[in-house]
Amino acid sequence: MLILGIESTCDETSAAVVQDGREILAEETASSAEVHRLYGGVFPEMACRRHIDAILPVISSALQKASVFPQDLDAIAVARGPGLIGALLIGLQAAKGLSIAWDKPLIGVNHVEAHLYAAMMAKTPLFPAIGLVLSGGHTLMLEMENAGSYRLISTTVDDAIGEAFDKTATLLGLAYPGGPALEQMAKTGNGAKISFGLPKVKNNPLAFSFSGLKTAALYATKQASQEDYPDIAAAFQETAFADLLRKTRLAMQTRSCRSLVFGGGVCNNRRLRDLFQEQFPGLPQFWPAPGLSADNAAMIAGLGYHKFIASNGQGDPLDLEALPRTPFWN
Ligand SMILES: Nc1ncnc2c1ncn2[C@@H]1O[C@H](COP(=O)(O)OP(=O)(O)OP(=O)(O)O)[C@@H](O)[C@H]1O
Ligand SMILES: [Mg+2]
Repeated sequence: MLILGIESTCDETSAAVVQDGREILAEETASSAEVHRLYGGVFPEMACRRHIDAILPVISSALQKASVFPQDLDAIAVARGPGLIGALLIGLQAAKGLSIAWDKPLIGVNHVEAHLYAAMMAKTPLFPAIGLVLSGGHTLMLEMENAGSYRLISTTVDDAIGEAFDKTATLLGLAYPGGPALEQMAKTGNGAKISFGLPKVKNNPLAFSFSGLKTAALYATKQASQEDYPDIAAAFQETAFADLLRKTRLAMQTRSCRSLVFGGGVCNNRRLRDLFQEQFPGLPQFWPAPGLSADNAAMIAGLGYHKFIASNGQGDPLDLEALPRTPFWN
């Protein structure tokens, strides 16, 4: 079964053709990150303008690369949220227009659920599992009974982990989005030279909080010279990841967990993967394949396939709305 996926929740305009929820035949992505770099964060109006320019070209390019004609498609899946409302509407309207023009069912997909699906695309995890979404907008720990059934264990009370990476990277003079640059800087630093306390949330040992850590990094930069910045980057990264490891371990104490499933852009971080693999040896871990951690349309098409099957091939009605905030868990 062939699904066209469309992603436009933030600053990537992406289209992909995926077969049977697993095999990526082609993907085309246009990013407006270089525009947002000038402003130090995503400028929603500029993101929307770029989506408008890019949406149809990325779709036709993905189809061409996959050697797939519109009539070969079984359905069109689109990220309906969470994300920037204007950006979501552009992807959604394109998907609806093509659904009418090509007479193909429409399927709305939750973007954050799709981040987790990216890790399950190649191989189905062992369930029950614990899922961790580590992205620019979310930090979620979830109980997964199976693919598609999620219960929230905890989330962040303030910044998402990717957001904290980006803000700390800005303090260290790195360009937006600073997460990957902070990881590179941390490689040349010594995290043990500075001690940032592990984040704690009152009365909720599993909840995440990254704003205090970011503020600690701010004070450290004020007292440091620029040559010490790599040490601050390393200390920030080590503390944030130590917090994830500690809370994952704590959650596992009272839940059965046969594997860990990871999703979201921060999963690009090599140090994060190494730490989890070192500290949970023997526990199967499912990470997104290269290119599938950050925003992409392949994960939308992949999850869309399962939603399409679950709807008995009906898909969603054409008045499907964008959902900028709605959660996908119970
Ligand atoms: N190597 C890395 N180390 C740390 N953070 C990273 C790395 N690569 C990407 N990131 C971070 O991942 C985030 C982007 O991830 P993603 O695209 O999943 O988020 P988003 O789409 O903005 O948010 P959401 O998916 O929650 O709506 C950014 O904050 C970015 O800095
Ligand atoms: Mg995302």
